[in-house]
Amino acid sequence: MKLLELEGVNAFYDKSHILQDLSLEVNEGEVVALLGRNGSGRSTTLKAIMGLVSVRSGAIRFHGRAIQNHAPFNIAKQGIALVPEDRRIFPNLTVGENLRLAALSGRKGPWTEARIYEYFHVLGERKDKPAKLSGGEQQMLAIARALIANPAIILLDEPMEGLAPLIARNVEDVVRRIREEGNTILLVEQNVEIAMSLSDRGYVLSNGRVVASGTIAELRADAAAMQRYLAV
Ligand SMILES: Nc1ncnc2c1ncn2[C@@H]1O[C@H](COP(=O)(O)OP(=O)(O)OP(=O)(O)O)[C@@H](O)[C@H]1O
Ligand SMILES: [Mg+2]
Repeated sequence: MKLLELEGVNAFYDKSHILQDLSLEVNEGEVVALLGRNGSGRSTTLKAIMGLVSVRSGAIRFHGRAIQNHAPFNIAKQGIALVPEDRRIFPNLTVGENLRLAALSGRKGPWTEARIYEYFHVLGERKDKPAKLSGGEQQMLAIARALIANPAIILLDEPMEGLAPLIARNVEDVVRRIREEGNTILLVEQNVEIAMSLSDRGYVLSNGRVVASGTIAELRADAAAMQRYLAV
């Protein structure tokens, strides 16, 4: 079933036309990769979905209802959670306060604070301490904040970015586990191999346009697009 759909979306930063007639869809239970080089518009796509970048024309539908240009808080309440590139942890709040704040803008569901601490032991150990965390712990907290909102879809923006290889592997394992539990994810990940190993389908962006799309097998078979737009 179609959960999220972008149809002919155009978005601008000032006068720069960033997203150009962008269309894509994510079905319930799927992990969909947004691939492309730096600056191709992947983060802007996630921000437009979340209401953080305004959409000039086109539609974004969630459960079939238009949500483009709704307030980010309302979009979160409807069941969309973003794990942003820059993580946005509040270091002066405790880990628990960071989680409870995120829960406020989310929905009730299976993810509770207690369950988060069972799932992420490192967060449980620090729940009452200020969230002055290492990069890997921050990313775990950023993902945990998305989960505690019990979203219908999680938008993940380069979750492994900037982490030491071993820590990045831990975060990758978490994403894999969340996927295996049947969660719907729209994933931006720079490492094409990792992105493809985590996803069911993908869209390749270049200059804010979709230039290739399909199942992971179809994308792999499209050597020309892979070479031209992803340089692999
Ligand atoms: N706040 C902003 N103001 C003006 N231009 C921006 C802004 N943010 C991004 N851009 C521009 O929009 C384009 C798309 O950026 P976006 O952040 O979506 O790329 P990306 O695919 O996520 O790549 P990366 O994360 O590697 O930068 C780029 O040309 C970028 O320079
Ligand atoms: Mg980005």
